[in-house]
Amino acid sequence: MTGKIIDGKEFAASVRAKVAEHVTRLKADHDVTPGLAVVLVGQDAASEVYVRNKGKSTLEVGMNSYEHKLPADTSEADLLALINQLNEDPAVHGILCQLPLPDHLNEELVINSIVPEKDVDGFHISNVGRLSTGQKSMVPCTPLGCLMMLRDHHGSLSGLNAVVVGRSNIVGKPMANLLLKDSCTVTIAHSRTKDIEALCRTADIVVAAVGRPEMVTGEWIKDGATVIDVGINRIPHPEKEGKTKLVGDVDFASAVEKAGAITPVPGGVGPMTIACLLANTVTACCRANG
Ligand code: GUN
Repeated sequence: MTGKIIDGKEFAASVRAKVAEHVTRLKADHDVTPGLAVVLVGQDAASEVYVRNKGKSTLEVGMNSYEHKLPADTSEADLLALINQLNEDPAVHGILCQLPLPDHLNEELVINSIVPEKDVDGFHISNVGRLSTGQKSMVPCTPLGCLMMLRDHHGSLSGLNAVVVGRSNIVGKPMANLLLKDSCTVTIAHSRTKDIEALCRTADIVVAAVGRPEMVTGEWIKDGATVIDVGINRIPHPEKEGKTKLVGDVDFASAVEKAGAITPVPGGVGPMTIACLLANTVTACCRANG
C-alpha cells in the first residue's frame, strides 16, 4: 500500500483562513483585535527565524503582533518585569516566550510567570494540569496541529491504538493526553522501551517526536496505519556534498509504502504549529472578552 500524503501546508492555510475570518468578526462585532506578544531573549539563529515567521503570520491574519527582542544578558528580574507588563496589558491576549532561553534564566519560572489565560504555548503548569485532567486549557500548538490532522483523516479516533514515540513535555506528553481525551488507547514509547518496533507495529496511529533523524522505518509500521512525523532534523545531504537536507523522525521512503496516511517533512506538521498558535491567540481573546 502507498499512503496518502497529508498536506500540512494546505491544512494550515485553511486553519489560518478560518482564524482570519474569526478576527474580522471580532473586530466588527466586538471592536477587539486579538494581539500576540512574542518575547525573544538573545540571538539564537533558529529562534530568530521562528519569531520572524510568527510575527509575519500574526499580521497576515489581521491580528496585532508585539515583538520584544531582549539582549542575551537580560536579567531574570527584567524579563519577569516585561512578562508582568504583558500580563496586565489588555491589548495582549497571547504571550509566547521563545525557547530555549539563555542558560542563566530559569525556563520553568519564566513560563509559569505568564498568566495561564495568555499562555498560548500551553506550557504553564496550570494548563498542563488542566489538559491532563480533561479540563478546558490552552493546548500546546504542535500536538494540537497533529490532533487536527488526525481527526480530519479519521473522523473519530475512538478505540484506535496510538503509539507516541518520545516523552517530551512540549510534544510527547501533551500529545498522549490529547489522544487519550479522544478515546485512543495510548502508549508512550521512549529510549528505554523494549522492542519499540514491535510495539509500533501494533499501532493504528504512530506519532514520532524524538528528534532522531529517520528512526522510524517502514518495518515499524502496520499496514494502513497513520504516521505523523513531528521531527525536524538537518542532516548532511546524501547526494550533494557540503549541503544539508531536512528530514523527519520517520524514514519517509519506506514508511509511505506501508502507511495508510503520512505527513511529510517538510510540509507536514511544521506549518500547523504556527497556525495553531494563531488559533490559540483567538481562543484566548474570545475567553478574555466573554
Ligand atoms: N521553541 C521551539 N518550539 C517552541 C514552541 O513551540 N514554543 C516556544 N515558546 N518556544 C519554542
